Amino acid sequence: MSRVLLVRNLVVEIGGKTVVDGASFVVRPGEKVGLVGRNGAGKTTLLRVLGGALAPRSGLVERTGATGYLSQDPRGDHIPDDTNCLAHVFSGHGLDVLQTELEKAAIRMEEDPSSEHIHSFTDAQEKFEAAGGYAADSEVRRLASGVGLRDDRLDLTLGALSGGERRRLELVRILFGGSDLLLLDEPTNHLDADARNWLLQFLRSYRGALLVISHDLGLLDEAITRVLHLDREAEEATGSVVEYKGTYSQYLAARMADEIRLEKRSAHQEAEIRRLSTLANSMRGQTAKRARVARNLDRRVQRVSAEKVSAPKKRRAMNVRFPVPPSSGRTVLTATELWQAFGTLDVFEDIGFDVGRGERLLVTGLNGAGKTTLLKVLAGRLSPDLGSVELGTGVSVGYYAQEHEGIEAGRTLLDHMKSSSDAAESDLRALLGMFGLSGPKAFQDASTLSGGEKTKLALAQLVAGSHNLLLLDEPTNNLDPASRESTGKALASWPGTMIVVSHDVEFVKALDPDRALLMPDGQLDYFSDDMLDLVEMA
Ligand SMILES: Nc1ncnc2c1ncn2[C@@H]1O[C@H](COP(=O)(O)OP(=O)(O)OP(=O)(O)O)[C@@H](O)[C@H]1O
Ligand SMILES: [Mg+2]
Repeated sequence: MSRVLLVRNLVVEIGGKTVVDGASFVVRPGEKVGLVGRNGAGKTTLLRVLGGALAPRSGLVERTGATGYLSQDPRGDHIPDDTNCLAHVFSGHGLDVLQTELEKAAIRMEEDPSSEHIHSFTDAQEKFEAAGGYAADSEVRRLASGVGLRDDRLDLTLGALSGGERRRLELVRILFGGSDLLLLDEPTNHLDADARNWLLQFLRSYRGALLVISHDLGLLDEAITRVLHLDREAEEATGSVVEYKGTYSQYLAARMADEIRLEKRSAHQEAEIRRLSTLANSMRGQTAKRARVARNLDRRVQRVSAEKVSAPKKRRAMNVRFPVPPSSGRTVLTATELWQAFGTLDVFEDIGFDVGRGERLLVTGLNGAGKTTLLKVLAGRLSPDLGSVELGTGVSVGYYAQEHEGIEAGRTLLDHMKSSSDAAESDLRALLGMFGLSGPKAFQDASTLSGGEKTKLALAQLVAGSHNLLLLDEPTNNLDPASRESTGKALASWPGTMIVVSHDVEFVKALDPDRALLMPDGQLDYFSDDMLDLVEMA
C-alpha cells in the first residue's frame, strides 16, 4: 500500500463559497501532515470531505484502509444522547453489538436461571472474549486515562458528558479503532497539558498516517513533517491548497522568504516600468529616430508588465478593542462557602474569595478540578448546592462559555448581537467587523459558523454588552494565531475586572493576573511567573 489517501482535482463548496479549488495531493502510510489556515478558511469542511462525511463538488477522494475521524465539535455528529459511552467507543470495532448481547443474556439468566439461559450467557461471553472484548475494556480505560477522561465517565451516557469530555471520549474511540489514517480536527482543544503531552507522545509513536488540523504550534512542530496550507485570504476568495515539506516553523520561514522575494521582485519591476515609461515619454514628439526609440521602449514596458508579479497582500490583522468598562463598586464579586456536587461526587467544597475592582484572577487546577463549574456558578448559570455569589454595586457580568453554549441554531450573527446590546444595528455590524465577521456574514445562521468564528462571535457579544466584570472560560481556544494574539492584547490592556480560566501560556503571560485560585481546594495566591508552569499543566 503506497498511499492511504489520494486526492485529485478536488473542488469543495460550502455555503455558496468555493473553499478549495482543484486540490491534488497524496498521503502515504506513516506520514504526518498538518492542515493549517486562518479561521473560516474551510479546513473543517475539507477534512469532512476527506473523511467521507461530506460530498465534494467534484474531484476524487480515495481512502485505502481504515480511517478514524475526530470532528471539531462531536456534538454535531448526531449520535443519540442515551448511547452508553463505553458502547460508543466499542462501536469503533463492532464490539458494541456483542456487548449488548452479553448484557441482555446476563439479565435473562438472572431473571430465570434455566439451563437454556445459562447456556446462551456463556455463549455470549465466549463470543465477546473471542472478539477481544475483555482485553478491549482495559485498553479503552488505559486510553481514557491518557487523555484525562475520568474512569467513571465511561459508564455514563453521551448526553451526560460535558463538551470537553465528549471530545476526549471521541478521541479514545478513534485511537482505539486502530486505523491506518487519522483525520483529527483540532485534537488539543480542551485538553490540559498532561493530556496534551500524552496525545503528542501517542501521535509520535503512532505508526499510521495522520492528517491534523491545528492552531497549536507546539503540536504542529512536534508531530508533523509536512504542511498543507489552505490558503483563502478573504471571505469571497477561492481557496487553494499549498503544500510544503517540513515542520510548521520551517513552513512559516519559507513562506516569509517567498513573500519577501516576491515583494522585492514586484518593487523592482515597478521601478523599471516607471523608468522606461518616463524615458519613452521624453523621446516622443521629436525626431523620427527618437520616436522609434520611444516605440522600442514602449514594447519593453509591455514586456515587463506582462511578467509583472503582484506583491503578496498584507493580511489585515484583527484589531480588537474592548470599551472602557462602566464604573462599579470597589468589591466586584464575593463568593461565600460555595459547595458543588454532582451525584455522590464533590466537585468542590467551601470555596470563598472576593475580587476587587480592576483585579485579574486566574483560576487554575487540573482537568476535572471544577474550573468550568465554578465559572458557571459565578455567572449565575448554575446555582450552587450551598453558598452564595454576591455582585458589587453597578456590576455587569459578561460570561464567555467554553463550549459556545450561547450560540443558537436558526438565529443570525446579528440576532445574537442584538440580544447582547441595544446599540444600533450599524454599530453591532461594525463590532462584528472588528472580529473579521464583516459584510453579509452578519446574516449567516450562527450555528453554521466555523469553530474560530463562533469564538469570535461570542467575544463580539461580550464587547457589545459593555460589562465591567468578565468571566472567561478558555477564551482563546479555536482562534488562529493572529486572532489569538490580538484578542490577548485587547484583553490584557482592558482595565475592567476579569476571572479567567486558560491553558494558553502566552495569553496568561500577556494578561499578567494579580492572583490565582487553585481548584479544587480554593487556595488563593498572588500570581507570579513561576506559576506559568502550572498554567501549562493545568
Ligand atoms: N451553511 C453555511 N452558510 C454560509 N457559510 C457557511 C455555511 N457553513 C459553513 N460556512 C462558512 O464556511 C467557512 C468554512 O468553514 P470551516 O468550518 O470549514 O472553517 P475552518 O477553516 O475549519 O475554521 P476554524 O479554524 O475556525 O475552525 C466559514 O467561513 C463558515 O462560516
Ligand atoms: Mg475548523
